[in-house]
Amino acid sequence: MDLGLADRVYILTGAAKGLGFATAEALTADGARVVIAARTQASVDEAVAALPAGMAHGVAADITDAGTPELLVRTAMDTFGRLDGALISVGGPRLGSAFELTDDHWREAFETQFLGVVRTARTVAAALTGGGAIGFVLSTSTKVPLPGLGLSNGLRPGLAGVAKDLADELAPRGIRVLSLLPGRVLTDRNRQLFAATGNPEKAQAEATASVPLRRLGRPEEFGKVAAFALSPAASYLTGLQIPVDGGLLRTL
Ligand SMILES: NC(=O)c1ccc[n+]([C@@H]2O[C@H](COP(=O)([O-])OP(=O)(O)OC[C@H]3O[C@@H](n4cnc5c(N)ncnc54)[C@H](OP(=O)(O)O)[C@@H]3O)[C@@H](O)[C@H]2O)c1
Repeated sequence: MDLGLADRVYILTGAAKGLGFATAEALTADGARVVIAARTQASVDEAVAALPAGMAHGVAADITDAGTPELLVRTAMDTFGRLDGALISVGGPRLGSAFELTDDHWREAFETQFLGVVRTARTVAAALTGGGAIGFVLSTSTKVPLPGLGLSNGLRPGLAGVAKDLADELAPRGIRVLSLLPGRVLTDRNRQLFAATGNPEKAQAEATASVPLRRLGRPEEFGKVAAFALSPAASYLTGLQIPVDGGLLRTL
């Protein structure tokens, strides 16, 4: 199937590694070009070097900064001359239960994981024309709370609501908005979560056993779904949440 990605241009935040980078790999493999962002120049340079030559441009930018979305849109237009969408990912929030987390933890996470994401979506949406698409990288916590991840449980259901709201508002312009819900995909984020338990091997084995497919997801399995969701091949999909979780979610 031709996804229709050739020559399209996407912005990917939080994309020096993990799910964002895997999506950059899938998009560029099908002929799209990408502007990828993460906080450090070194990690961005390394990611660009690992993508097909001429298909990726890197920007060192923190999604928390108010100027980052405009910078990314400008870079896409200046470098590649068009913009067709964005995948908005960002490093996961700190660990801690809702009872343990302090006001400062909530404020910090709100600025980055919530407002940074909403501002990026709004800015990209303003620059898109019909056929454009925006994907939010959220979590299965939008539907079922995760133990010990109070910030994710608190903020991500709200982001799912924002994504749905934007999907309604932008649909008449032909712009689609979706959320992707990774379950347990083996990236550095999950390695950190396993390490934080003090017994990473046991934690990984338990996580694996909890997935109906009996294995953790591979980043490329997420990247391919995200690339499809952003592509013209998914032109009648909007306003939905797509779990990429090996069957983990218990909701119907
Ligand atoms: N992996 C999973 O199975 C899973 C499951 C549920 C939810 N999620 C969520 O999905 C998101 C992505 O996860 P992942 O597994 O891809 O994580 P990851 O492997 O840790 O990668 C995170 C990426 O985001 C960049 N980043 C971090 N903070 C940033 C910021 N403030 N501004 C811009 N870029 C930033 C990091 O690069 P720099 O450090 O260089 O900035 C890195 O490139 C996270 O929010 C995570 O909580 C993941």
